Amino acid sequence: MASEQIIEEKKQGQALVTEQIKGNSKKLFIESYGCQMNMNDSEIVAAVLAKEGYNTTNILEEADLVLVNTCSIREKAELTIRKRLQKYNRVKMDSNRKMKIGVLGCMAERLKTKFLEEEKMVDLVVGPDAYRDLPNLLKEVEDGNDAINVILSKDETYGDLSPVRLNSNGVSAFVTITRGCDNMCTFCVVPFTRGRERSRDPKSILEEAQDLWNKGYKEITLLGQNADSYLWYGGGLKKDFKKASEIAQATSVNFAQLMEIVAIALPKMRIRFATSNPHDMHIDVLHMIAKYKNICNYIHLPVQSGSTRILQKMNRQHTREEYIKLIDNIRNIIPDCAISHDIITGFCSETEEDHQDTLSLLDYVKYSFGFMFTYSERPGTLAEKKMEDDVPLAIKKRRLTEIITKQMEHSLYRTQEQVGKTMEILIDGTSKKNENEWKGRNSQNTVAVFPKTGSEKIGDFVMVKITNCTSATLLGELVF
Ligand code: SAH
Ligand code: F3S
Repeated sequence: MASEQIIEEKKQGQALVTEQIKGNSKKLFIESYGCQMNMNDSEIVAAVLAKEGYNTTNILEEADLVLVNTCSIREKAELTIRKRLQKYNRVKMDSNRKMKIGVLGCMAERLKTKFLEEEKMVDLVVGPDAYRDLPNLLKEVEDGNDAINVILSKDETYGDLSPVRLNSNGVSAFVTITRGCDNMCTFCVVPFTRGRERSRDPKSILEEAQDLWNKGYKEITLLGQNADSYLWYGGGLKKDFKKASEIAQATSVNFAQLMEIVAIALPKMRIRFATSNPHDMHIDVLHMIAKYKNICNYIHLPVQSGSTRILQKMNRQHTREEYIKLIDNIRNIIPDCAISHDIITGFCSETEEDHQDTLSLLDYVKYSFGFMFTYSERPGTLAEKKMEDDVPLAIKKRRLTEIITKQMEHSLYRTQEQVGKTMEILIDGTSKKNENEWKGRNSQNTVAVFPKTGSEKIGDFVMVKITNCTSATLLGELVF
């Protein structure tokens, strides 16, 4: 586990670059902050705009259109984006060009028209369900108007759009399967910025996965804010399922079934998924992971807190004991499964005893990885309206340090456990530190590096014997 990965918000967005399309003369600089879903959405945006004559660039100064795909999850994420907008504005002023600036994603949805008032240089504000409308909105902007579309959709899943793969290594890709979230955790802004949950047609998911395989991809991650909650019954919101199924007597496909469909159709494609809310994770999913070799033995299972009292205040819909039961089931059904977590420390009213419960849960599970945060109050959430953000920042930070320290010990323990084993690694590039070495990941999602021998290439599955490790990386050699 890279420690910097877990401590700070990403300070830098990722400027995304695609294959250049001949004849496209306009230049798009698109940058993504936040979750994997945002990355995948930016790929959808690039696909929409490629049809409008845009090629991507990673040089801000030469862009005709600058888009930033934003994150609202914590206050710091929003502050980082505000700073970025100032930077774009300076470039716009200096270059004296008719560069247009647009804000996409969760901040666009959360702030809506306020954005145009607060950030004078912003021309375009587009929420996560309105990317199909970008060509019309751009026409508005060209006519000299501000343009805004932030309406959340009941149906939008972008199912029929093929994302242009940005910054791709040609090996792994994301495939979105659900959008939105119905869980209403009291700390979380996502249900407000991404709307109600809806699932994508399994046929279009399968087509996209097949297309990726045909293009040489070897690994896909099925993405959703709440992937395990996937439910296809012919379209529409998940909350309307019961009504619709009564009327249409529709047959449905749940997440475990979807995984099986994909695993059987593409038996050599590695399949991952994210994210799982423990409350929505059905035991059938565990059996599917165990049954199919190509579904990876890795589950990201955010817990947020080890205290049942805090979990209830967070509206997480499960107790500490139920979560432990789920962990035990995972260990029994998939013995070599890696598990990772998200934890929020310092949520409203969290006591030292609650914090100790989180630490003891960490000791029980000994997670392989973790993403750990101090609680950040978000406007509009139930916690902001009804609870007091009463844990002082210094205490939040001290608790976070204790959690991170423990996690680092456990990460080392989990990586050391793998030394001596021989495992399948999917090569995804050359090691950053040594050009004579490959890097790749095992099924459990741990990075491995090993010397090149000359007969293998990026995208190959190879067998590697692990001889040593650091806390985050396995070191090994190829076996034939
Ligand atoms: N759908 C995922 C969570 C998506 S948000 C789930 O079921 O858990 C990613 C992570 O950000 C969350 O798991 C949580 O740990 C963190 N997070 C969300 N809101 C936060 C807030 N207000 N303050 C601090 N961290 C937060
Ligand atoms: Fe947020 Fe909870 Fe959904 S953390 S994304 S409301 S599962």
